[in-house]
Amino acid sequence: MKQSVTGGAAEADPGRLIQAALQVRQNAWAPYSHFMVGAALLAASGKIYTGCNIENASYGATICAERSALAQAVSAGERRFSALAVVGFDRQTRPTPPPLAWPCGICRQVLSEFAGPDLVIYVARSDTDYVRLTLKELLPYQFGAGQLAAPRLD
Ligand code: THU
Repeated sequence: MKQSVTGGAAEADPGRLIQAALQVRQNAWAPYSHFMVGAALLAASGKIYTGCNIENASYGATICAERSALAQAVSAGERRFSALAVVGFDRQTRPTPPPLAWPCGICRQVLSEFAGPDLVIYVARSDTDYVRLTLKELLPYQFGAGQLAAPRLD
């Protein structure tokens, strides 16, 4: 099942991005929730950066897959992004089909720091079964640098 929630300009085939997210999901450290998540970010440079969720015994210290991927990319000097793929599944219950892993609110906000409203997001079960949306659809009325009196973006 391929769902297209929004239309849009021609863009890269999501298959490669989703495959990268599926691969990095294997590295998820999720001993508490058993929910394994993988994310892959396509930078403006054309490079793909990946990340998985990394849980912690102090639960609040957990980092989500999307922010893990973003940290990799920004640390490598990237600043702009055009697409994100995210995949998840519960290692313990192994439901079929796996659930769609919607990016959490914190990740939506963190992505919005570097990605514009047109960032394409593929929330996927496989490279042929995904929902396509934009960041603007997931995070309308975002809080951004424009709300601050004297933003410093250097
Ligand atoms: N998780 C993500 O990696 N991304 C999200 O956007 C939602 C949640 C992870 C965090 C935690 O390790 C597990 O999923 C269950 O919440």
